[in-house]
Amino acid sequence: MKHLLTTKELTRDEAELILDVTEQMAEAVTGREVPKLPALRGRTVVNLFFEDSTRTRTSFETAAKRLSADVVNFAAKTSSVNKGESLRDTALTLQAMGADAVVIRHPAAGAPQRLTEWIDGAVLNAGDGTHAHPTQALLDAFTMKKRLGSVEGRTVAIVGDILHSRVARSNVWLLSKLGANVRLVGPPTLLPKDIGDWPVEVGYDLDASLKGVDAVMMLRVQRERMHAAFFPTANEYARLYGLDERRLRLLPDHAIVMHPGPMNRGMEIAATVADSPRATITEQVTNGVWVRMAVLYLLLTNGETR
Ligand code: CP
Repeated sequence: MKHLLTTKELTRDEAELILDVTEQMAEAVTGREVPKLPALRGRTVVNLFFEDSTRTRTSFETAAKRLSADVVNFAAKTSSVNKGESLRDTALTLQAMGADAVVIRHPAAGAPQRLTEWIDGAVLNAGDGTHAHPTQALLDAFTMKKRLGSVEGRTVAIVGDILHSRVARSNVWLLSKLGANVRLVGPPTLLPKDIGDWPVEVGYDLDASLKGVDAVMMLRVQRERMHAAFFPTANEYARLYGLDERRLRLLPDHAIVMHPGPMNRGMEIAATVADSPRATITEQVTNGVWVRMAVLYLLLTNGETR
């Protein structure tokens, strides 16, 4: 593995290795007075974000620092991208400064792949358009493994704005590869046209689709990727596809409620559900740091300095 671009191209063995190393990272750092390992001392990780982020950017930064790497945060909004500099020239500039890894978030699907053609270091996709968000899916799988004991044989409903969701796409490929049954549920207007080629069941009735699930993953309605004329109203959307307390009671007792964040509280998820003990939302954020430590470590050392 030189780069991490999508979960579709990961083998099952590679995905399981990342989840195993994630567990080791969590164990190695949790409870230490100084939660730091020396594995990436002398390496430089650049966070190259062309789209907004709270969780992913700070989590990659925390992960790199916990591995003792130097971290450079590059925000496109305050860079020479604003003067018209291209992605290629930006990449070559970072390369000239000696970046060992570049973590990129970009609105264009395929931008991380293009970056691999211009720089020598590892490229980690932190979200490209509606295409892929591999570390989110890995942290979701890790959370399921911790909470449910396994991913294999579990049934997961992914609900809502599938059309615009790179989180849904990355989870479909990863969870199905790890042996889970994936159900996609949402309004027909928010399901992709090529969904027939995906390894999933498709449903339109949320109440029916919640029966027998082990995990339900609610997705944010991504208004910023929609034409204003197609915005669903919050009340109408919540009535048909929101997870409220009544729907929470339809879930089996052991089932968990997931959300990648950021949330539209009161739209795809009721505030009381988001804050309930069944929700794993903040746990997913914590697990994101361990997953990103594992991925940075594996890509930059080939697993050789453990
Ligand atoms: N889940 C996720 O990608 O969140 P951010 O947009 O805050 O990084």
